Amino acid sequence: MITVRRVIEFAAALSVVALAFHAGAQEASGASKKPFEPVPGMPGKDSVWVPTPFVTLEKMYDLAKLTKNDFVMDLGSGDGRAIIVAAKRGAPGLGIEWNQDLVDLSNKLAAQAGVSHLAKFERGDMFAADISKASVLGLFMLPDQLAKLTPKFLAMKPGSRIAVNGFGIPGWTIDQTEKATGDCGSWCTAHLYIVPAPVAGTWRLGDGELALTQSFQMLTGTLTAGGKSMPITGRLNGEEITFTAGDAQYNGRVAGNSMSGQVGGKPWSATKK
Ligand SMILES: C[S@@+](CC[C@H](N)C(=O)[O-])C[C@H]1O[C@@H](n2cnc3c(N)ncnc32)[C@H](O)[C@@H]1O
Repeated sequence: MITVRRVIEFAAALSVVALAFHAGAQEASGASKKPFEPVPGMPGKDSVWVPTPFVTLEKMYDLAKLTKNDFVMDLGSGDGRAIIVAAKRGAPGLGIEWNQDLVDLSNKLAAQAGVSHLAKFERGDMFAADISKASVLGLFMLPDQLAKLTPKFLAMKPGSRIAVNGFGIPGWTIDQTEKATGDCGSWCTAHLYIVPAPVAGTWRLGDGELALTQSFQMLTGTLTAGGKSMPITGRLNGEEITFTAGDAQYNGRVAGNSMSGQVGGKPWSATKK
């Protein structure tokens, strides 16, 4: 229900300003050729432009624990603010935006902010973008767009962070949510998702077998050892794995086709079958 209301709010932001945009567009096409000024709600390829408030962007990057060693991307980067704010924190980044006027404006605003060396922008389709270099995404898009991009999100390096404004990624339990305070109107909520390591499948664990079913960062399955089978539940935080089998709590780290850690103060390790 909440998501439906948010989508309606998003859509409403758009139609309310549609007339203003129309008037603005007419003016822009006039003889005076004023510099391009985006208007919230103006149409884009697959969604309109509504900017993320600056305080919300800061909250998104606080949740993501953004550092200078990250590489940030925004898909549908609008006026470039998500990339420019990250660059002001020292992190390089790339915004992909369909509207060339917004790309040009982003480059201008990055130059004004003195971060052109870090903040780059390209005209392109967000669904075709290569996000494999990104360690952090700063996003503001509709749930169906987030859903469409989810396979790409899950293919990012485990531990990559996806910080989103407002809408959640359908089906993926949010790792952390916080509200920005200050000038953020209806868009104050920042959500964080941490890309989990892929672990679904069967693993040899000591003399036993660990069968894991994975839904995003959530794990279920069975541990079979000594002729006994017990259900397990667990969770991933990037490459960190925890699961419980009976009274035993396993903690460890995944590294591709192997994982290892501690259970009851003793080491354990597993390899993918
Ligand atoms: C809701 S705005 C978000 C702007 C920016 N990310 C922010 O948080 O301020 C969505 C942006 O996506 C752009 N857009 C829509 N469809 C797109 C597509 N298929 N590829 C690239 N950009 C797109 C729009 O032009 C708009 O600037």
